[in-house]
Amino acid sequence: MELYFATGNPHKLAEANSILSKFGILLKPAPSPKIEIQSESLEEIARYAAEAAYRSLGSPLVVEDSGLFVESLKGFPGPYSSYVYKTIGCGGILRLLEGCTDRTARFECVVVYASGEEMRSFIGVTKGSIAEAPRGSSGFGFDPIFISEERDGKTFSELRPSEKSAISHRGRAFRALGEWLSCSGREHTLK
Ligand code: IMP
Repeated sequence: MELYFATGNPHKLAEANSILSKFGILLKPAPSPKIEIQSESLEEIARYAAEAAYRSLGSPLVVEDSGLFVESLKGFPGPYSSYVYKTIGCGGILRLLEGCTDRTARFECVVVYASGEEMRSFIGVTKGSIAEAPRGSSGFGFDPIFISEERDGKTFSELRPSEKSAISHRGRAFRALGEWLSCSGREHTLK
């Protein structure tokens, strides 16, 4: 089965495909860019983008929106993660947390599937904390400063891609999509 994935992020595409290949699903990058509205809800952002992408493509697709939520910063950067990464980056988050004892954080991911007849959301969350300094070299975005509570002190950037996907917000959301698509008997091929 093939579906479009409206994303400009090649890391997200690679992570999603490594998960969905186990379900016999291949995501192809959508030819049009993801439309991003401003909202405090990842799901609202993803659903709006999925509607807009379906209008322009007319083919079944998925859209994903994700973000890093830092507890002691009242959830910042959350839905603004992409902009915050581009502007102040990992170093900026570390500076905001200087002297902070509570470094609890989580990643959230919402995947929206749209086929014209229906639209469904799949949510994935992973909990952890913000490291004192960046570590590791794989992954993207805030991976070097995020320590999962499910891996002994390693940042996401210190894990192999398959280890990250096994516990990540994106891994969880795309696995839920893969399971649902497999059970539903839907068959999609792109024109
Ligand atoms: P958006 O979903 O395109 O709005 O971007 C979400 C932003 O959150 C990304 O640009 C990254 O900075 C950050 N982010 C989301 N997921 C991850 C991840 O798995 N690792 C590291 N950073 C992430």
